Amino acid sequence: MNTNTLSIHTVNTAITSYDFKLLCFAASLWAFDYPFRFPDIVDRIMTALVKYEVQGPVAVITLNSPPVNGLGNGLRAGLLEAYETATQDKAVKAMVIASSAKLFCGGADISEFDSDKAFAKPDLPSLLVTFEASQKPLIAAINGVALGGGMELTLACDYRIALPQAKLGLPEVNLGILPGAGGTQRLPRLVGAQKATQMITSGVPIGAQEALELGLLDKIATGNNFLEEAIAYANALIESNAPVKTCADLSVDTSDLPSDFFAEFRKSIARRTKGFFAPERCIQAVEAAIALPLKEGLEKENQLFQECVVTPQARAQQHLFFAQRAAGRIPGLDPKMAIRDIKKVGIIGAGTMGGGIAMNFANAGIEVKLLEIKGDALERGLNAIKKNYEISAKRGKLTQAQMDANLALIQGTLSYDDLGDVDMVIEAVFENIDIKKSVFKQLDAVCKPGAILATNTSYLDVDEIAAQTKRPEDVIGLHFFSPANVMKLLEIVRATKTADDVLVTVLKTAQRIKKTPVVSGICWGFIGNRMFEPYGREATRLVLEGAAPAQVDKALTDFGWAMGFCSVIDLAGIDVGFFAREGIRDQLAHDPSYQVLCDQLNNMGRFGQKTGRGFYIYEGRDRLEDPEVIEMSSKTAQELNITQREISDKEIIERTIYSMINEGAKILEEGVSYRSSDIDLVFTNGYGFPVHKGGPMQYADEVGLDNVLAAIKKYQSELGSHGDNWFKPAPLLEKLVAEGKSFKDYQTGS
Ligand SMILES: NC(=O)c1ccc[n+]([C@@H]2O[C@H](COP(=O)([O-])OP(=O)(O)OC[C@H]3O[C@@H](n4cnc5c(N)ncnc54)[C@H](O)[C@@H]3O)[C@@H](O)[C@H]2O)c1
Repeated sequence: MNTNTLSIHTVNTAITSYDFKLLCFAASLWAFDYPFRFPDIVDRIMTALVKYEVQGPVAVITLNSPPVNGLGNGLRAGLLEAYETATQDKAVKAMVIASSAKLFCGGADISEFDSDKAFAKPDLPSLLVTFEASQKPLIAAINGVALGGGMELTLACDYRIALPQAKLGLPEVNLGILPGAGGTQRLPRLVGAQKATQMITSGVPIGAQEALELGLLDKIATGNNFLEEAIAYANALIESNAPVKTCADLSVDTSDLPSDFFAEFRKSIARRTKGFFAPERCIQAVEAAIALPLKEGLEKENQLFQECVVTPQARAQQHLFFAQRAAGRIPGLDPKMAIRDIKKVGIIGAGTMGGGIAMNFANAGIEVKLLEIKGDALERGLNAIKKNYEISAKRGKLTQAQMDANLALIQGTLSYDDLGDVDMVIEAVFENIDIKKSVFKQLDAVCKPGAILATNTSYLDVDEIAAQTKRPEDVIGLHFFSPANVMKLLEIVRATKTADDVLVTVLKTAQRIKKTPVVSGICWGFIGNRMFEPYGREATRLVLEGAAPAQVDKALTDFGWAMGFCSVIDLAGIDVGFFAREGIRDQLAHDPSYQVLCDQLNNMGRFGQKTGRGFYIYEGRDRLEDPEVIEMSSKTAQELNITQREISDKEIIERTIYSMINEGAKILEEGVSYRSSDIDLVFTNGYGFPVHKGGPMQYADEVGLDNVLAAIKKYQSELGSHGDNWFKPAPLLEKLVAEGKSFKDYQTGS
């Protein structure tokens, strides 16, 4: 392969200043003496973000910014430069755009969105318009995932060849925006409005075979030597005088499009997208693709993109994107340290949680031993697992063979002796410290040295549990959420003596079982349940002050919560919350009104949905107001000298959410959480906090910490003893306001 010329001003931070000078030096020479050859420099230049090589009549332009080839300003400039070089070179008849990374391109560099860089020339939309105008065919050689701007880049090419494992998708909607570099205009022209609308509003990528069938790909390669195949394909196109194929010449084929397609589509996604801004703009963009020529369609897309990108939602969803990436980073810990091998896992307790946890591991191909105390409990647990898999198989989510293989990985046992060879144990027995202590004593006696001993406790002190063993360094909390086989969140509780390699091992294991891990320190309820407690305290106190449960719940669902608190506690079990509070009763003793309605319902045996009554009455699938609850709240309020009154939805939101935020500030300051974005991950992945608000701490940053603090102080002074008890501003909140900072600026210890 010849190296005729080079891409030069594509420099990223990974390139040293020496490299940079070298590149500038090469650039100046290149300008004088084109095509320039200088082998020593050529090797150095290969570190540039775009490589340019010519093989016969084919210019190969290689995206060279691993791991994801993010289309930042430098990469875009390099692409344009390479393109212009190929355009000017009369010997070049076609261009192949390839990747040196494992994937083709992960899309735009979204870290540029809050700076001017994203729109600095060449911006992606105009770069792709330039590519589309090429007189020489451009061939995208898609070796792996092509997402967002990466897929849009392929759409602006004339031909697309891909490896069988390639995936193409436009996930921008998950970042609160829409594909803004022609995706909404070119995709419908290539695959039709229905498929394009579905892809753009769901963000779900498709595989190569489907893309081929849709006409999105022209060819699937065998994969033996992909680049050679792509170049051979380009040569074949040159030889057959294949034309350039621009989307500008195409209109969206609407011959099969039902006249009510968009109306019906909007209805079909209404529930899933409630409260989100971007999905509707995605649909409007596809409608524009049908109605307008490409040029005007691109303008409309740009206008809709600009509307999305400035919304708090876009900031919130992008915050969560970065939060996911930050969560696995533990200050002071080397993520590459040697970890323990996890091949076989023991689970203690085959109840609600144990069964779901077992499924997670079996789904990842990891052997499970599931231990119960009694045969009938074990049988019940194993049957529940089987039933769960059968439901998934019926829904087409897994095949019979996969189901059989998963079930074969889960073995039941009644004997601790069977746990001698497991690499990790997760205890999921009743939430009772004495039972948990006795389980850990037995585990200490039977488990091999180096086995990780984890507890799924929701509230209890992991240090106290670890102290039952002679190896507290191997003990950690793994707090799964219910249903454990479905919920993404895994709170990892780092106990005082937990060894670093145990923490890193469970973080890596979380990835294997497809969980979103967040590390918490030790405290009652850890991050999630500790912050959920003040939220629930205010929700039920508001009922005591005169709001009906349905009003409280409606305000919360209007805010975006999946369910209101009264409905949630009815679902989770009022008794569960009652027993959880046992651990903090002494801290609550001074406040007779604290969760008094929940305690009363608990004492009446009204545990919620499972008993048919809680805050509401449950009749079949219907949830009805319970007049007795309204009456009970009025009577109890009188007894406690609380005057019932009209309560605004604004007050419901501020008191519930700001109470959580205040507790979150304490959690941050105590170092229970490493960063505010971890807290946001907990609530958006484990508790139904609206994703489009980005989690409670992001929401606070968006509202302004000064406003949050002012409201907390207002309630502190207005709500009498309740205000005095529960609305003391967290010192960190006051500090950040005084310094004009946000939660985002704060890292534990900073
Ligand atoms: N259910 C939830 O929503 C949820 C969510 C997160 C965490 N948790 C925590 O998970 C743990 C289990 O909760 P669950 O809801 O699955 O309870 P569960 O009552 O459904 O199941 C507990 C199981 O443990 C078994 N068991 C009790 N003592 C045992 C022992 N000594 N040895 C072996 N097995 C024993 C019981 O027979 C029962 O099957 C608790 O610590 C709970 O706080 C529960």
